[in-house]
Amino acid sequence: MLDHRNLLVTFRDYLVAMDALHLRRFLDGFDWDLRSRELAAESIPVVRHLQPIKARDDLLAVLARHANNLHWGRTYSPADFGDHFLQNYGWVELFGSRGHFASDEMAGGFLVLGPGVDYPDHHHIAEEIYVPLTDGSFWSKDRGAFAIRKVGEVIHHPSGISHAMRTAEQPLVALYLWRGGPLSEKPKFQGDTP
Ligand SMILES: [Fe+2]
Repeated sequence: MLDHRNLLVTFRDYLVAMDALHLRRFLDGFDWDLRSRELAAESIPVVRHLQPIKARDDLLAVLARHANNLHWGRTYSPADFGDHFLQNYGWVELFGSRGHFASDEMAGGFLVLGPGVDYPDHHHIAEEIYVPLTDGSFWSKDRGAFAIRKVGEVIHHPSGISHAMRTAEQPLVALYLWRGGPLSEKPKFQGDTP
């Protein structure tokens, strides 16, 4: 089985090299010496979008190399947002309460959205950081206007704040971190029962 520690080290080095206030706070004191978990490879349709992307940095290139051996997941069912969404949405937890490496303190991994996807407003208790690894995606926070985001921007979602993403022609690959709340919580949407 492919050793994913190379992906974990590249993920860590990518973040450590960035200089952003919220990110520094997330990473402060975090021990990256994580125990690996044996997870079977699990592919989902959205993974098809990864290979054709021209990687502009090491992290995306290493992710693409590992993609077929990772345990990809989806939080939703067709009843939530329909079939187009499920064919063009997915994530992999590199580390966290259920990922390829074990941590109860922080979760981290990758979200992938295909073109033409609308990920509606949602929120969760954990504080979150996203860093897009591709250009051309649109992000809304606290029900504000959608803004286009570029590779390497740090997008911070405080605990419980509403956020939404949209893609247009380009797929989105983004690194994510969760900290300070239940690491496997299913996000809540407007209209959900509390
Ligand atoms: Fe989120």
